[in-house]
Amino acid sequence: MPKIYAQKLNPKQKYKHQPKTLSGKRLTRRAFIRYGLRAALLILIGSAYSLRDNVKTEKIRLRFSSLPPSFHGFRIVQISDLHSSFWVTRAYLSRVVDQINAMEKNIVVITGDILTGSVNSFLKHWIPDDDDTYLSMVIDVLRQLHGGAVKLAVLGNHDQGDGSENARKLTYELDKIGFKVLRNNSLALMRGDEQIFIAGTDDLWFSCDLPKTLADVPENAFKILLSHNPDINTEIRKKMQIDLTLCGHTHGGQVRIPFLTDYLMPINNPSRYMAGLVKEGYGYTYVNRGIGTLVFPFRLGAPPEITSFHLTCSDA
Ligand SMILES: [Fe+2]
Repeated sequence: MPKIYAQKLNPKQKYKHQPKTLSGKRLTRRAFIRYGLRAALLILIGSAYSLRDNVKTEKIRLRFSSLPPSFHGFRIVQISDLHSSFWVTRAYLSRVVDQINAMEKNIVVITGDILTGSVNSFLKHWIPDDDDTYLSMVIDVLRQLHGGAVKLAVLGNHDQGDGSENARKLTYELDKIGFKVLRNNSLALMRGDEQIFIAGTDDLWFSCDLPKTLADVPENAFKILLSHNPDINTEIRKKMQIDLTLCGHTHGGQVRIPFLTDYLMPINNPSRYMAGLVKEGYGYTYVNRGIGTLVFPFRLGAPPEITSFHLTCSDA
């Protein structure tokens, strides 16, 4: 039998067929994993950037025994958290308004954070921080919203965060373009001799006063409450009987990272109020994911949203 000797390769022969990087170095397993992770991170960031303005229309149909029959088929369009700022362009906001203009609706509501305000200040070395520019931009765009619907808004924490004078200025500008800003008050909508009430609070972290908001609303009336922060539910007492509470504030997490996003949410009960429809003991809460972005122009797992509600009366 001939003897077989293992041939010992010198290092140069051993790595002869191993691929090389662009810089000509041999690609080791460790380097391969490192480059792979970098590529995955870049793809993730690119996706999050491109998904920031991929608006989704959510259609919610709700049935109420408390809705007056003449309001059967009543339609509400809700948007929230526009966050007019360096990150949110005029073209994008105009596209959102065009989409709303094409929708069937009786009222349009904005549930706060129309502006971003001074949160930009910590980045002011790199990005423009002229809030007046962003105010006039969003007002110019919202002026194009038409269709004969009643237009309502409430303020969010970012709208009130730069002081009462700035909040008043925003309220004044919205009023000039036909938006009624509900600041701890309500209005009645009439159809024949039947009515429903829309009430709206200031932001929960600032001057929210729920008893004052509902002071003019009859106890047994059908009520829709607009309030930026879904934590308003901790203030709602059983006897207030709110049929539908519309909120925003969470951005649906904006960038959803399992476990971490819940931990970072600025609300008491993120597992319940992160986004979407929640059945309460009496009525419903809906948390809209918002239109704009905060701090960075990224969204992942929480697309921007226009919500279309179709209310029906179970007696109709
Ligand atoms: Fe917001």
